[in-house]
Amino acid sequence: AEERSFFEAVGGEPTFRALVGRFYEVVAEDELLRPLYPEADLGPAEERLRLFLMQYWGGPHTYSDQRGHPRLRMRHAPFKIGLAERDAWLAAMRVAVDESGIEEPYRAQLWQYLEMAAHSMLNSWE
Ligand code: HEM
Repeated sequence: AEERSFFEAVGGEPTFRALVGRFYEVVAEDELLRPLYPEADLGPAEERLRLFLMQYWGGPHTYSDQRGHPRLRMRHAPFKIGLAERDAWLAAMRVAVDESGIEEPYRAQLWQYLEMAAHSMLNSWE
């Protein structure tokens, strides 16, 4: 039998909806991160991150159906992401992960990935 995906093991779409929803609540109040988002409405950015993470962890491929290949470093190139922005992003994610109810070992696995991914998005060393 096929192994259950991470996506299913942590509760599927509702879990990712809550996680990313909480993340963007924190972003909305963050004076360093909020100005980076070009749109007045954070809803579309929230949906893209939710769909990306669902796909990454073995859920439906809706992200790539809508957006094509993720190419995340390229998509972040227009935004200045230095150490401060990376740390603010991770701090917002920390809140969301801590409140998500996702249990070990999934929680540690998710966090390790997010730290790695956030670090890989750095594009400014001013
Ligand atoms: C898009 C900021 C890290 C996934 C964006 C956008 C901004 C941003 C400003 C554009 C908003 C929009 O979609 O309209 C940042 C900052 C980060 C960071 C400051 C700090 C390191 C990450 C990481 C991931 C990620 C680690 C994945 C694990 C995405 C995705 C999109 C996006 C999927 C939408 C891409 C698209 O389809 O256009 N991010 N991001 N970001 N970000 Fe990040």
